[in-house]
Amino acid sequence: MSGDLTVNLGERSYAISFGENLSDAIRHAVERFTANGRRVAVLTDTNFATLQAGALAAMFGPTPVLTVAAGEGTKSLEGLGQVLDFLAQQKLDRGGVLFAVGGGVMGDLGGFAAATWLRGIEFYQVPTTLLAMVDSSVGGKTGINIRAGKNLVGAFHQPRGVYISTQLLTTLPPREFAAGMAEVIKYGLLGDAELLAQLERDPLRPESPKIAETVRRCCATKARFVEADERETAPEGGRALLNLGHTFGHAIENVAGYGEYLHGEAVAIGLTAAARLSQKLGYIDSSDVTRVEAVVAVHALPTRLRAPLAFADLHAAMTRDKKVRAGGLRFVVLKQLGEAITQDGVALDLVEASFRDVGAH
Ligand SMILES: NC(=O)c1ccc[n+]([C@@H]2O[C@H](COP(=O)([O-])OP(=O)(O)OC[C@H]3O[C@@H](n4cnc5c(N)ncnc54)[C@H](O)[C@@H]3O)[C@@H](O)[C@H]2O)c1
Repeated sequence: MSGDLTVNLGERSYAISFGENLSDAIRHAVERFTANGRRVAVLTDTNFATLQAGALAAMFGPTPVLTVAAGEGTKSLEGLGQVLDFLAQQKLDRGGVLFAVGGGVMGDLGGFAAATWLRGIEFYQVPTTLLAMVDSSVGGKTGINIRAGKNLVGAFHQPRGVYISTQLLTTLPPREFAAGMAEVIKYGLLGDAELLAQLERDPLRPESPKIAETVRRCCATKARFVEADERETAPEGGRALLNLGHTFGHAIENVAGYGEYLHGEAVAIGLTAAARLSQKLGYIDSSDVTRVEAVVAVHALPTRLRAPLAFADLHAAMTRDKKVRAGGLRFVVLKQLGEAITQDGVALDLVEASFRDVGAH
C-alpha cells in the first residue's frame, strides 16, 4: 500500500494516511500541537478503550480522553452534550483539536461536536472499524440522531486529517467486519468493477493481506465522489451515488428497530434490493442480480430480511428519510455492475416489488 491519499477540497483539503500502525505518526502530531500551545482532546467509546487500551496509550499518551458508551444510542443529543461538556472542562479554545477515535458513531458524534464547539474547531478521524475506514471517516458528514430519525441533525465539517491503522481491525468482532464489507461491496458495484471482480474471485477476510490495499482503494473512490460534489448538491449522480442500497437500508433499519440489523447488514439487503430494482428498470439482467447476491452472501451478509417487514411501514419510513424527501422517489440504481446512476420518478410498485423480492410483505 503506497503513501497518503489527498482529498482535494481547496482550503479544506486533507490527507488520509494509511499504515499497519500509525501510533507514532499520531503521537508526533499530538506532541506538535501541544508544543504549539494547542489543547488536544480525544473521544472514544468503551469497547475500543477496553479492547485497544495499549493502542490508545501509544497514540495519545497523557492526552485527556473522554470514553463514552459504545453504540448508536450515543449518537444523540445527550451524547453530544457529554462531548461538549468535556471540551469545556478541558478548556479547548478555538485552537483546540479533537481526535475522534472509533467507528462511525465516534466519527459522526466527534465530528459534529467539533463542528459546533466555538463554532468549529479542527478535528482528526482515527477510524477503528472497517466501515469507518472505508466510508464514514472520509467526506466530512457529521451528525447525530434525534427521535424523528437518523442523522437528521448534523453539519458538513471536514476533518483535518484521517489516520487509518489497519492493525486496529484485529479486535473487531466478525459481525462488524462483515457489516463494513457491505460498504466495500457498494464501492465495487457503484464505481469499481475491478474491485467487484476481485471480491468475487477472492472474498475479503479479516486476516487477508489485501485488507490495507482494499481500504485505500475504497477511500480513493469515496474521495473522488466527495471532491466532485462535496455537499451532495449535483442535480443528478454525484455524491448521492454513494447512497447505493441506503434508501432501502435506512428504511429496513428504521422499521426493524435500530439495533436489529447493523447498518451494514441493512445496506447489504439494500444492495440486493437495488439490484432487483435495476433489473426491473431494464438496466441489468437476472445473472447480474445473482452476482450481486452471491458477493453479498459470500461475505457473511444477509441478502434478504431475516423476518418479514410490512411494505406499508417501509414506505412510510422511506418518505421520512431526508434523502427521499428532498428528491421524491429517487433511487440510486445500477446501470451495470460497476456503474451507478440516480433515477428519478421511480414507480412505487417497482419499489414495492423490489422490497418483496428481499422478503417484505
Ligand atoms: N458520516 C458518514 O459519511 C457515514 C457513513 C456511513 C455510516 N455512518 C454512520 O456510522 C455509524 C456506523 O458505524 P460503525 O459500523 O463503525 O459503528 P460503531 O461506531 O457503533 O462501531 C461498531 C462497533 O464496533 C466497536 N469497535 C470499534 N472499533 C473497534 C475495534 N477496533 N475493535 C473492537 N471493537 C471495535 C464499537 O464499540 C461498536 O460496538 C452509523 O451511525 C452510521 O450512520 C456515517
